[in-house]
This record gives sequence, C-alpha cells and structure tokens, in this order.
Amino acid sequence: MTEKIQESTNSEKRGRLMMKTWQAVKRLLPMTAIFGLILAGCGREDLSVLRPQGPAAESSLGLMKLSITIMVVVLLIVFSIAAYVIIRFRRKPGQQEIPKQVEGNFKLEVLWTVIPLILVVVLAVPTVKAVFAAGNDHANDKNAIKVKVTGHQFWWEFEYTDYGVKTAQDLVIPKGKDIAFELTTADVLHSFWVPSLSGKIDTNPAGTINRFSFSAPNEGVYRGKCAELCGPSHGLMEFKVKSVSEDAFKQWIASMKSPVAVLPEDPELAKTFKNQCLKCHAVGDQGLAVGPNLTGIGSREAIAGILLNDDTGVDGAPIEENLKTWLHDPQSVKPGNLMPNPKDLGLSDAEIDGIAAYLANYKLD
Ligand code: CUA
Repeated sequence: MTEKIQESTNSEKRGRLMMKTWQAVKRLLPMTAIFGLILAGCGREDLSVLRPQGPAAESSLGLMKLSITIMVVVLLIVFSIAAYVIIRFRRKPGQQEIPKQVEGNFKLEVLWTVIPLILVVVLAVPTVKAVFAAGNDHANDKNAIKVKVTGHQFWWEFEYTDYGVKTAQDLVIPKGKDIAFELTTADVLHSFWVPSLSGKIDTNPAGTINRFSFSAPNEGVYRGKCAELCGPSHGLMEFKVKSVSEDAFKQWIASMKSPVAVLPEDPELAKTFKNQCLKCHAVGDQGLAVGPNLTGIGSREAIAGILLNDDTGVDGAPIEENLKTWLHDPQSVKPGNLMPNPKDLGLSDAEIDGIAAYLANYKLD
C-alpha cells in the first residue's frame, strides 16, 4: 500500500517536472524564433563583415577574431574551474561545519590581476595599431582618388572632385587604389557603410567634414548602407560600390564628362522632361543636381538604390520596369523621400512610361 502511494507521488513529481520543462520550452520558443529571424537577416552575403573584400575590412575582422578567441578561451577555463569546484567541493550529506575560508589569498589575487592585464595588452596593441592605420585618410595622397560623399534623405551623392564628375547611388572606383573620402550631409545625420570593405563613418551637418579611406583590391559590386537612423526610409538608403579595372574607370570618367545629355527623342516628352524633371535632376551639363544626378542612369546597378536592375529578372527586375515602379509612386518605394509624385506634377501615365523608357536606355558608352 505505502509502496503504491510512493509510486504514484513519484509519477506525479515526474509529471510536474515534465510540465515545467514543457512550459519553459514554450516560453523560449518565440524568443528562439525571433533570434532565428534576426540572425537570418545577417546572412546577406554582400552585407556581411564576415566576408571582407579589402584591407580595412580584413583588419576589423582580424580584431574581431582575436577578441572572440581570447573570450572563448577565458570562458572555457573559468567555466571548467567553476564546474570542477561545484562538483568537487559539494556539501556532503551530514556535513555541517563551515569550510576553510580563503579570502585574501595573495597568490590568487596576483594571478587574477596579472592574467587579465596581459589579455588587455594583447587586445590593445593590435587594436591601437589598426585604429591608427584606419586613421590614414589619404587626403594628401596624390595617387588616391578623391570622392566627396554627401548624404541626403535617402540617397547618396558622389562627387569626384579631381575630375569634375558628380553621380548618385553607384560609386565607381578603380580596383586597388586608395579612395580618399570626404563626407558630409545635406540634411540629417547619416552613416556611410560598406560592410565588406570598411567600417562606418558618420556624415555630419553644418560644414563638418569627416574623412576616411578604403580600397577594394578585387573587381566587384559591393552593397553599401546608411547605418544611422535618419528617417522613415533609413533602412532603404542603400548604394553600390562598383570596383572596376583602372581602364574601365578612366573610360567611365570620360563618358561621364562628355556631354551626353541626350534628351528624349519625342519633342513633347523632351519638353516635359526639361520642364519638370530637370528642375531637380541633372543629365550631363543640363539641369540642377538638387536631386540625384541622372547621367548614365541606364548603366546603374539599381533604381532608387534598392530596386535592383537585372534583365534576367532573377536578382531584381529589368531597369525599365524598376523605373516605372519608382516613377509611378515614389512614396510607396521609399516613404518620406522628397521626390514629388510625377502625377502631381501633371504627367500622364503615358508620359511617365515614356520617361522610364528614355532613362532605361540612357546608358554610358
Ligand atoms: Cu541615412 Cu539612415
């Protein structure tokens, strides 16, 4: 009889324990799901600091690896000692006396002061070295390509001061060369960041200029982001860095400089384009570059920085389609941007489509 009662209380205990475990799991599930989702967002290949494509990003990753290695080693040692102590010095059944107290042990205190000091020095030396190396902004380097970056809500302007060339959204650079950046903003704080190439740098208002430099040894297209909350479309404030061969870069500068301001063929459309679009945008030497400069927009990687151009439709949509999406309703693509809706300017759907087609074919040679 007593055995039976014992058995039933035991199974009750087990049941309660299982219930508790299940409740804990249930509570953890949503958190695990949320972390899973957040971490999945880190998986975008071209936006990862874990795949460095240039010396500046490589040095950051090196520092990360060094500090994580040290942390893991410390963690393993401390946890092993803790586990050993917990098991080895457990209170035995019937043990009542207070164990021998060891506070103020001189040897131990020296040990756990000196070891962290050594670790801090091991971390500090390469960090200080990397910080000073990153501080070389190449501002006075004759061989560096000078680019003035201006952040706008929600797009990027790039001016090649030595060449008199201004563009937007696609930063074309020659591979292997140091690019000397001079950064500022036209409105609020932004932060210029190309994860696979470099660290972040703020763009400050009121004439404050920040400088930094990076280089891209390989050809390729790297995705850049704004890394400072700057308004409703902060998360959409993307740009591209296109690293090309030296010859291709020279060719690009030459075609940007030659006045390729071909207006739409249709005279009516050309008039509309001139009277409306060129009030804020520039093509070649015409128009005002208050908004993004549109010279050679047909050769760019994306429209509005985020609608990726891809004729195959695999990694985006054909450029003409993207231009239509943008021009028919800019606010739905990038909420809070300053571009007026062309329809509010009196443009018909046919005119908007015509301008999309014209811009899509406005390529650089
Ligand atoms: Cu600009 Cu965030």
